Amino acid sequence: MEWRENAKKMAAISASKHVKNGSIVGLGSGTTVVYAFQELSRKIKETKLNIVGVPTSYQASQIATKYGIPLTTLDENPQLDITLDGADQIDNDLNMIKGMGGALTKEKIVASASRMNIIMVDETKLTEKLGINQPVPIEVIPFALPLVQQKLRHLGSNPILREAKKKLGPVITDNGNLILDVDFGPIDNPKELNQILKVIPGIVETGLFLELADIIYVGRKETTSKLEKK
Ligand code: A5P
Repeated sequence: MEWRENAKKMAAISASKHVKNGSIVGLGSGTTVVYAFQELSRKIKETKLNIVGVPTSYQASQIATKYGIPLTTLDENPQLDITLDGADQIDNDLNMIKGMGGALTKEKIVASASRMNIIMVDETKLTEKLGINQPVPIEVIPFALPLVQQKLRHLGSNPILREAKKKLGPVITDNGNLILDVDFGPIDNPKELNQILKVIPGIVETGLFLELADIIYVGRKETTSKLEKK
């Protein structure tokens, strides 16, 4: 296994240890969470771990079902105990960029409904500053696309509409929306940028996940390290 995959797996196994019997668990999206789902599946079978999960995407829902993790909804369980998720970039304050897998809106809703958020990454995701060689994904209502693009250009950025693979045209999110990948360069003040973006009509959610992560497990070549909210 390539070292990054092993690092992701080790981080996911560490993160899964925080899931206690009886927990309502937010199930993040991406490739790293798959290792966490495998570990939860093993514990469900071997130790009779009793949990239910709220998936943040069709991907999460399908994989959780494949691994025998019982699912629930926010309607039934609006308060979650813990969420396990990946991230695309993490700075020294544990602020994150997420959404390269297109699931940012439900991920942020589930994270905000969760008492504890545990993030699993390999060390390539760590950065001094958010936005270095990393666009911010932004989910946009299709009707508003030209307006949002124009406003983002006025902010000095260059929004790129995310194109689908194996389908012509744009990516359509699980919520029926579009995604703009927006390169802002190094972001000095993520909170201020997020506030500016959130008031643009037609922007549903941004990939800036600020002050949400409680614990981050970072898989490295030889070890896994733990970062905690100060
Ligand atoms: C999904 O939209 C994203 O927010 C993922 O959580 C993020 O892209 C991490 O994905 P990987 O675990 O595949 O790196």
